[in-house]
Amino acid sequence: MEIIHVTAECYPVAKAGGLGDVLGALPKYQKEAGHIAKVVMPMYRTRYLYQQQWEVVHKGVGNLGNQAFDYTVIKESANKNGFDLYLVDINGLLDREKIYGYSDDTERFLSFQIAVTDWIARWEHRPDVVHVHDHHTALIPFMMQHCFAFRKLAGVPVVLTIHNAQYQGTFDWSKSDYLPVWDPWKTGLLEWDGMINPLATGIKTAWRVTTVSETYMLELSRSSNGLESLFEYEKGKCIGILNGIDTDVWNPAADHYLDTQYDLDSVTEGKWQIKSSLCNTFGLDPLKPLFIYIGRLVGEKAADLLPQVIGDSFFHIGRSMNFLVLGSGEPEVEAQLEWIKQLSWGDYNVYIGYNEGLSHQMYAGADFLLMPSRVEPCGLNQLYAMRYGTVPVVRKTGGLKDTVLDIGEKDGYGITFQHASVGDITHAIFRAVQLYENPVRFDEVRRRMMTLDFSWHRSAQSYLTLYKSLK
Ligand code: ADP
Ligand code: GLC
Repeated sequence: MEIIHVTAECYPVAKAGGLGDVLGALPKYQKEAGHIAKVVMPMYRTRYLYQQQWEVVHKGVGNLGNQAFDYTVIKESANKNGFDLYLVDINGLLDREKIYGYSDDTERFLSFQIAVTDWIARWEHRPDVVHVHDHHTALIPFMMQHCFAFRKLAGVPVVLTIHNAQYQGTFDWSKSDYLPVWDPWKTGLLEWDGMINPLATGIKTAWRVTTVSETYMLELSRSSNGLESLFEYEKGKCIGILNGIDTDVWNPAADHYLDTQYDLDSVTEGKWQIKSSLCNTFGLDPLKPLFIYIGRLVGEKAADLLPQVIGDSFFHIGRSMNFLVLGSGEPEVEAQLEWIKQLSWGDYNVYIGYNEGLSHQMYAGADFLLMPSRVEPCGLNQLYAMRYGTVPVVRKTGGLKDTVLDIGEKDGYGITFQHASVGDITHAIFRAVQLYENPVRFDEVRRRMMTLDFSWHRSAQSYLTLYKSLK
């Protein structure tokens, strides 16, 4: 089969979170399974771009309203990542360093989608499936089916995967003329709550909608930032497929970000070395259990609760643990996390920013990973942590619920809690400290986790089965 993934992120080209990880891995596994897997994404000006060799494969012209724009599609010559990688360049719109966060993101991602659809419509052959991801690419199924210029693609199956329904890409009808001319009878497909809502349009028009865990799929009909009734209505075509992890990139025995690599036989010694050096760098005490948080500092991750959780843990449990936080996001949360450094007795530190290498060292050197998320469609951090022998302490929601079994259950290997509240999180930390203080049990849990298989093999197969059902 020929599968075309269209995405805003793909590791190692450009990554802001788990979307990038998924797009850097799933196509590789699909290729290994004998298929043609192509990834098409914007040509941001990231370091990766300048380090590779590229060839121009297409030049075209698109229109954003009455503004014409030139676009160029380039392909990575060496296929370094194990799949075919294409970048779309649009001067003045996509040629930026960051992926998101610009005031003209609507224009940027609309022009990207118009260019990609235009390019595919010009191929002499038709791909077997176009697979779009999140709201940045979710207008593509509408354009393929209902915009006159792209009608040639109307019969090509399109799958939409929702990695996060909190973000929907909504924009005002005053920008509707950005879209290529569409069949006016279909205008209702663009509309949700008085606005043009790309994610809602994608849900209505994709042939199948998937999301990244079964529990999140169920949660969406109850809570999805205004789209609840739409998910309920469309549930017949929706399915949850759990993400996997790229075990080549996330492998403690071969991770080039680590000074000491380790496997199941050397885990105790290996982790100790990494923890010691990490604690040394951040002024922490390696003899105490190390709790880490890695991720976007936003409400959906409950990062706003971290300062109080850390303070309450020191107060109620005693200063018997360390916390190290890596992340960036809402300025107030960043400021609070910086501010509480004053309270540290050599047992708390924070790194505000994005640092891929440090994240690997933290997964490897920590004892526990905190994920108190209010919303977590899948979550990859807990899967990386487990592979690196770090016990996840997670709220029972979305993909966290589907991947972490509490140590109170038979063969359990993590610590789970019910509510994103300071009380529940602090109690879970207390349970984690107790586990740490029982080295035999702690070691047993650690080893059990490390042997779990969260690789992409099974999920990649589920996607292929889904595509085949659309033929
Ligand atoms: P989300 O996509 O919602 O942010 P995931 O758990 O799916 O959450 O994936 C987050 C990914 O981003 C992981 O690979 C994690 O290690 C990485 N990550 C998040 N924040 C940072 C950061 N500040 N520095 C380095 N890596 C980060
Ligand atoms: C999103 C979700 C996260 C998921 C990731 C990859 O960013 O927030 O839970 O793991 O996408 O699918």
